[in-house]
Amino acid sequence: MAAKTIRIAISGLGNLGTRFIKLISDKKTELRERYDLDLVIVAVADSRGAAQDPRGLGLDLILKTKASTGTVGNYPELGTVGVSSLDLVKQIEADIWCDATPVNIDRGAEPGISCIRTAMRRGMHVVTPNKGPIVLFYQELKQLAEDCGVCLRFGGTVAGGLPALYIGMRDLRGARIDRIEAIPNLVTGFILDHIAAGSSWEDALDLAKNEGVLEADPSWDLDGWDAAAKLVILANAVLSYPARLDDVKRSGIMGLSDQSIRSAFGSGRRMRLLATAVHTDSGYSLSVAPRALPEDHPLARLGPKEMGITYYTDIYGTLTATIKEETPLPSAATMLRDILDIMLGTEA
Ligand SMILES: NC(=O)c1ccc[n+]([C@@H]2O[C@H](COP(=O)([O-])OP(=O)(O)OC[C@H]3O[C@@H](n4cnc5c(N)ncnc54)[C@H](OP(=O)(O)O)[C@@H]3O)[C@@H](O)[C@H]2O)c1
Repeated sequence: MAAKTIRIAISGLGNLGTRFIKLISDKKTELRERYDLDLVIVAVADSRGAAQDPRGLGLDLILKTKASTGTVGNYPELGTVGVSSLDLVKQIEADIWCDATPVNIDRGAEPGISCIRTAMRRGMHVVTPNKGPIVLFYQELKQLAEDCGVCLRFGGTVAGGLPALYIGMRDLRGARIDRIEAIPNLVTGFILDHIAAGSSWEDALDLAKNEGVLEADPSWDLDGWDAAAKLVILANAVLSYPARLDDVKRSGIMGLSDQSIRSAFGSGRRMRLLATAVHTDSGYSLSVAPRALPEDHPLARLGPKEMGITYYTDIYGTLTATIKEETPLPSAATMLRDILDIMLGTEA
């Protein structure tokens, strides 16, 4: 019997988008054998162009064209420079729209949000690791997905490849979540550990830049915006608490002296930027702040490229999950997980 074809369109071909395409290519046979699914990329877009073919584009050729010319607008015969992802989503036929474009909170989460709205209205399921649209428009998008009869999945928006959201949304059913503590941002832990080990702030920041783990705008990570955005997503999606970024009391790591980081480390504690949601009489109190975690804290053993989350619940006790991400592959793989969840009918 022929495998079921799933037509996928991808907007954003950077770290995640290109790794996702490679992943689909590498796992083609396995996906057919295990799930009876054939994932076909019918359209791709980056900031400068797009390409489409309803029969499926060549995965290797997408990656080769992007790497050698900078844009998939140059895909032989089927690409067009200057076509935007919004142009594309308005006219393609696909089952799933994947958005892997930049967060762009300061620009109203564009281009992601307009494309996501259009995709849903046109009957496509949406998968995105892009926090921007979810942080700013979660409630609207949830309703729109329901109205349009499509699924919206965003597992990669919090703590990379760690299923931090799904543990809370799916696996803690029936529980009251009293508290969440999370280290959802990799780069701050990376910098703090390097300073604890003797690096200067300057060297630690350079190292993070060279490793490609620091965002183009460093303040997004260092001032705690990224962790706050992830906390807002956790609050909305897991705690059903309609928080906004302004509701998070936030302080970043730049105010810490290297002495304080080293002295915490010397006394067995690990400095981390901790995102916390605490149940209160009126909902949840949300904060992001550096904390020297004592040795017995469930997240205290996390290394420089690890992220984690601890849920404190009334009936499942205290549950901690962590992930080590050496490369962006696990984050890219969340798009595969989300697509499989949708196609196999796994509830979020
Ligand atoms: N990297 C990670 O480990 C990670 C982990 C979890 C979540 N995320 C999230 O996933 C998303 C993608 O991350 P990334 O690291 O892959 O980012 P990236 O490397 O900066 O890639 C972004 C991609 O979006 C494209 N783009 C920018 N503006 C566009 C537009 N107007 N229309 C269409 N495409 C546009 C860029 O095009 P060009 O190639 O032409 O510049 C690029 O291909 C972000 O929202 C990020 O926060 C990333």
